[in-house]
Amino acid sequence: MNRFYIQTYGCQMNVADTDRMTALLERAGGEAVEAPEQADLILLNTCSVREKPELKVYSRLGELRKLKRGNPDLVLGVCGCQAQREGEAILKNAPYVDLVIGTANVGRVAELVEEVRRSGKRLVALDMPKRGTPSWMAPDPHMTTDLVDLVPSVGAPARGKLKAFVPVILGCDFACTYCIVPRTRGPERSRPVSDVLGEVRALAQTGTKEVMLLGQTVDAYKSYYYADAAEDSRVYSLADLIWLINDVDGIERIRFTSPHPMLMHDELIDAVAECPKACEWIHLPVQSGNDTVLKRMARRYNRERYLDRIRRIRQAMPDCAITTDIIVGFPGETEEQFQDTLSLVEEVRFDGAYMFNYSPRPGTPAHGWEGELEHDVKIDRLNRLIAVQNRISLEKNQALIGRTFEVLVEGPSEQGDGLYTGYTRENKTCHLPGHPGMAGRLVKVRSTKGAQWGFFGEPLEQVGAPLPVLTL
Ligand code: 5AD
Ligand code: SF4
Repeated sequence: MNRFYIQTYGCQMNVADTDRMTALLERAGGEAVEAPEQADLILLNTCSVREKPELKVYSRLGELRKLKRGNPDLVLGVCGCQAQREGEAILKNAPYVDLVIGTANVGRVAELVEEVRRSGKRLVALDMPKRGTPSWMAPDPHMTTDLVDLVPSVGAPARGKLKAFVPVILGCDFACTYCIVPRTRGPERSRPVSDVLGEVRALAQTGTKEVMLLGQTVDAYKSYYYADAAEDSRVYSLADLIWLINDVDGIERIRFTSPHPMLMHDELIDAVAECPKACEWIHLPVQSGNDTVLKRMARRYNRERYLDRIRRIRQAMPDCAITTDIIVGFPGETEEQFQDTLSLVEEVRFDGAYMFNYSPRPGTPAHGWEGELEHDVKIDRLNRLIAVQNRISLEKNQALIGRTFEVLVEGPSEQGDGLYTGYTRENKTCHLPGHPGMAGRLVKVRSTKGAQWGFFGEPLEQVGAPLPVLTL
């Protein structure tokens, strides 16, 4: 009666929320299953950042509804950003949905499911802390649940994840005009340092080697050590947090995503450069290369300030990989303004980029603005941008041939042929000839062939034991 299945859409924060809900449901006696057909509880953890994934959720719900015929006890729930954005409307649009859980209520998942089962009522949980409320006064399950407890099976390395997402700051206080996140994830609030460290230490015990610190504007992180500031009233920044995590035994790599260019101060760049475990990879969303568009997006920096940050990063770390997010076809974007984005991409030479067509989102400031571009124009611009960036990614990775990298090997590559896959400190994918003993290890690798996605390499050291060969 307690088998559950969670399908996750969208960003890393959603993946982290799914991990949390999984841990909470398991603690309440549940068991994760591989397919929705085997489940008594199905949750869709949704994304609102663009329109398409939202539409997909409704068609998915329509399919899953059929499972209720064979299993009348099946509870069907929607959580994540779309749940927060649409709320009650989801119950109307999809009368077979039993439960809607907003983004600040994931910590209540087990009790909410229990309540639906007990009462037979359909429930909607959308509470959101008010802006500026200190975390100890606004019981936000994200913040107050004993998170150390939630890390799956502390002390059971076999169950641990090699790489783990750790939310450090929730919500967003910016108001970029295209973005739904401030509405779906609420006001900005940072987790106390002690909470974050407790979680990272627990993860390290389960075998985690790499942590990715998460936040919509992760460089806005500022928090006391303990929740109530009584014992230590110092305010810690993201740079401070990175230095503290650097001392956690077992953790080998620290990353964070995504910083806001306006908050990407020298102190943080220097921490990445000097802290041994902080990786040489920075994802710095630019969105557009044109000052007028940036202004209309309310990004609060201009092209020059962005380029200044890139120069500062490269001055501190010449080989640091830099990736970005770009939106094409913001309302009113002219061909000339789009050309500025292309020229910025050529100037910076990003290692990689996530590139999107602008998608109007109800509830954002830019929704309904004049100058919405024809679909074909947007597609054409996006394709041109992708072509430029793909060429640059390939050129950059080809230029790495012969260089040595530290690769954290994850497991067999989908490409087959005895290849294994891992990631460098620069967050580049590497395929290399390997064996099962390599999984989970840091291996020195020389790059032999560049590709758009990363590179092929050869190991420079013998790591771990190859599996014994059985002779029968
Ligand atoms: N349309 C298209 N892309 C968007 N993003 C955010 N909002 C929108 C939107 N309305 C992109 C931004 C952001 C990334 C996570 O998603 O580039 O950095
Ligand atoms: Fe959205 Fe802007 Fe906040 Fe990023 S900074 S989450 S783009 S509102």
